[in-house]
Amino acid sequence: MKADKNIENAKNFTADNNAPVDSAQNEPKTTEAQMSVDQYLEQLHADFDPVYNLLTDYQCAVMEVETKFNILNSRLSMQGEHNPIESIKSRVKDYESIIRKLEKLHLPITVEAVEENLMDVAGVRVICSFIDDIYRIEKCFVSQEDVTLIMRKDYIQNPKPSGYRSLHLIVKTPIYTENGKKDMYVEVQMRTIAMDFWASLEHKLRYKKNLNPDTAEQLAKELEACAQESAKLDEKMLRIRNRIAEDGAAVRIKDISALT
Ligand code: GTP
Ligand code: MG
Repeated sequence: MKADKNIENAKNFTADNNAPVDSAQNEPKTTEAQMSVDQYLEQLHADFDPVYNLLTDYQCAVMEVETKFNILNSRLSMQGEHNPIESIKSRVKDYESIIRKLEKLHLPITVEAVEENLMDVAGVRVICSFIDDIYRIEKCFVSQEDVTLIMRKDYIQNPKPSGYRSLHLIVKTPIYTENGKKDMYVEVQMRTIAMDFWASLEHKLRYKKNLNPDTAEQLAKELEACAQESAKLDEKMLRIRNRIAEDGAAVRIKDISALT
């Protein structure tokens, strides 16, 4: 049942929006039972290949961007005393969520509509240890020649009413396919470990269905308070790290002067 629905969704997804979805409306329909396996597979390919190609392009864009952050992490860690990036989590939106978002935005369900309008199909989340690492890495990332910054939302300086903090970037970056260069949108979310911990817990509350409204309100308030405490913790940890770094530098300077 679900598979049939998926096939139907994919058919709609690849249909030319100006043409009727079922172009063979006036012809007698061929049922799956009447089709040979070869015909059925051919039809499946025709329906799914454009979607599969699209999702593969986004997967490639995710890999390109991940590589950029991994390289920055290696290079910056050679200069500093720690790895600025703790971890990277990536995902490509599944096609059911893509279709739901197109529908929500009253957009046609076509590959072109996705490529032109949805900027968060490819998502890369970069988790840093400290807040200053986020801005340092952001600066290096957006200054790269093949990264074009489209949108920037700083929810660290301006947290959401929920308490949510993160730095969001929408960038355009090329992938190199067998047919040449193709620019792709990628959403990058940058946050500290504390921000990520908070966001995953809050996400659970956000998507929990059938929760008593009073309980939900109380938990949202508690989470907002947690967000403020976690922001203070991020600042305190940064101050401690800076103190350690200053003392370390002072010791090194003394060592060098002893040698000369
Ligand atoms: P979307 O249509 O959801 O993509 O919203 P938008 O385009 O206005 O983007 P926005 O910057 O608000 O956030 C996009 C993403 O950030 C979401 O899909 C979440 O991953 C994350 N996010 C934003 N706000 C919150 C929040 O309050 N709590 C949590 N847990 N995540 C959030
Ligand atoms: Mg989104």
